[in-house]
Amino acid sequence: MRSRPELRAGTRTITSLQNERVKLIRSLEMRKARRETGLFVAEGTSLLLSARLVGWVPKILLFLAGGRQTEVASELTRWAEGAGAECLEVSVAVLAKLAGKDNPQNMLGVFEQRWAGLPEARAVPGSALWVALEAPRDPGNLGTILRTSEAVAASGVILIGHSCDPYSREAVRASMGSIFNVPVVRLEAQPFLAWRAAWQGEVVGTHLEARIDFRQSGYRGPLLLVMGSEGPGLSDELARACSRLVKIPMAGSLDSLNLAVASALVLYEMRKDRLRLDGTPSRS
Ligand SMILES: C[S@@+](CC[C@H](N)C(=O)[O-])C[C@H]1O[C@@H](n2cnc3c(N)ncnc32)[C@H](O)[C@@H]1O
Repeated sequence: MRSRPELRAGTRTITSLQNERVKLIRSLEMRKARRETGLFVAEGTSLLLSARLVGWVPKILLFLAGGRQTEVASELTRWAEGAGAECLEVSVAVLAKLAGKDNPQNMLGVFEQRWAGLPEARAVPGSALWVALEAPRDPGNLGTILRTSEAVAASGVILIGHSCDPYSREAVRASMGSIFNVPVVRLEAQPFLAWRAAWQGEVVGTHLEARIDFRQSGYRGPLLLVMGSEGPGLSDELARACSRLVKIPMAGSLDSLNLAVASALVLYEMRKDRLRLDGTPSRS
């Protein structure tokens, strides 16, 4: 059954692109605005359901006015209202300016970003698996790695140096909701190296010059996987910080694999004894 949500008196319908909320949400397309406000946009009921599942409440929930909503959209609106979100109806023209250009959605949420801290390096459990990415450039890759990290019950993702923004719309969309589930840490190379010095487990770097096949490595936790950047690959500085460098064999004349694909292959190898079709282990 389809129905419109029952909205609290005072819920506003917005038709102007000059509206302050509309201008704010449009500005969140830009990294600078996301950095200054600490906000980001997640679009579509599927992402919003993922957020709700793990206790993220949007500050603003925005949806198309006048139209009939799906049951799930109505339910999300009622939930967001009850949880204190500002719920705004907007016109088709306004929504067209706010929604993504690919596969635009009728509902979007504005959330506060969350950044995690590093875990205590000497105290991580043996089941821990952290993924460190050196300056990833492509938000689609970053979102995909967040998604895969959730799938293998990784502990979190560490962004080293000048990374693309995990809270960009493209990264959030590619994460398929994992942005709400996977802790993300960001820091520069020097503090990362200082933290790594206290890390008690293995530090596995992936490198095209490595001589060890990633499938023959016999990984023992706690594990820290270090991936290089799409362009330059793993820097010498970070490669030296690894206890082992591994390579994924490639046939043909390829230079390398895509960063997200390479990450997924190694993560699944590292987790091959822990993941079962009947349910994943809990994240450590
Ligand atoms: C697109 S690659 C970077 C290629 C870069 N031109 C280089 O020389 O490393 C991005 C990252 O994915 C990982 N990677 C991709 N293919 C790999 C492979 N065959 N073996 C090991 N790591 C790989 C590495 O971490 C690499 O730094």
